[in-house]
Amino acid sequence: MSDKETFKQELDARTAEIEQLIGTYLPEETGHQKTIFEAMNYSMKAGGKRLRPMLMQEMCRLFTGTLLEAVIPFMAAVEMIHTSSLVHDDLPCMDDDMMRRGKASTWAEYGEDIGVLTGDALMMYAFETAANAFETSIDPDELSRIGRAMGILARKTGVYGMIGGQTVDVELAGGPIPGDKLEFIYRLKTGALIEASMLIGAVLGGAAEEDCKIVESLAAKIGMAFQIQDDILDVTGSQDVTGKPSGSDEKNKKTTYVTLEGLEKAKKDVEQISTEAIEELNKLPGNNDFLEQLIRALVGRQK
Ligand code: IPE
Ligand code: IPE
Ligand code: MG
Ligand code: MG
Ligand code: MG
Repeated sequence: MSDKETFKQELDARTAEIEQLIGTYLPEETGHQKTIFEAMNYSMKAGGKRLRPMLMQEMCRLFTGTLLEAVIPFMAAVEMIHTSSLVHDDLPCMDDDMMRRGKASTWAEYGEDIGVLTGDALMMYAFETAANAFETSIDPDELSRIGRAMGILARKTGVYGMIGGQTVDVELAGGPIPGDKLEFIYRLKTGALIEASMLIGAVLGGAAEEDCKIVESLAAKIGMAFQIQDDILDVTGSQDVTGKPSGSDEKNKKTTYVTLEGLEKAKKDVEQISTEAIEELNKLPGNNDFLEQLIRALVGRQK
């Protein structure tokens, strides 16, 4: 089997494992508020690459060599927050997209009112889920790391992170955006949750302070490359593969990395920024070949 085939097999196996782990934290669909549980599970079970929990897990593995119990609720939590951001991002008042992860967007399936509530619900349920990590240990050092991870998750989701980035993104839609502001948007709307994922993996894995700084910096680079590739796919991708409508950015008259720099430069920069991320990864103690392959595989991804 070629290296590429071995990696693909490994990737599929880990994605399936993550799906199973996340599944154990999803709510039961009973009670008077049954609709919100159904809509949460609808959006969470629709698929998706599960990249953020995977990056978290692999970063933790790099520092501990094993899958720490405390990291599992955080993996589920970050995927819930990410999914909540997608549920809201698709709303008519935002990007107004009808398809996500190969199915009708949550608002298109359940209505706009339930769409708003589902995004809210998943965001709060994420913190309820992450709090389960406190039950996994009685060691004071570990408990304090879990507390710190909760803080990182909140900050990188909120106004200094994803929500802050989405704010500037929607506010400036329809007009020109200078490069530095676009970088700010990408660093927050997409980079922040990837930073949270990798940093939480490192913190729970007991990484030293200077290593946490490297992790945050390399994750920011992965986030930037990831959003540029997302912009590329909005132009060149096919809905059958990405599971979401192509041409959404053009429809919303968005300035993107592609409209600003052109397709060829955008592709080159994804590669360049990812290489820089891997160089930083190699400064860390330990070795994780799968993680390095994963970062490389994100360059030129088709979905
Ligand atoms: C899409 O994220 C939104 C961005 C931040 C670019 P993903 O491409 O990770 O979406 P899923 O989780 O695989 O559906
Ligand atoms: C969204 O960026 C980033 C989020 C925080 C959801 P996009 O609007 O480009 O994401 P897609 O293309 O709809 O997945
Ligand atoms: Mg958007
Ligand atoms: Mg969108
Ligand atoms: Mg996009």
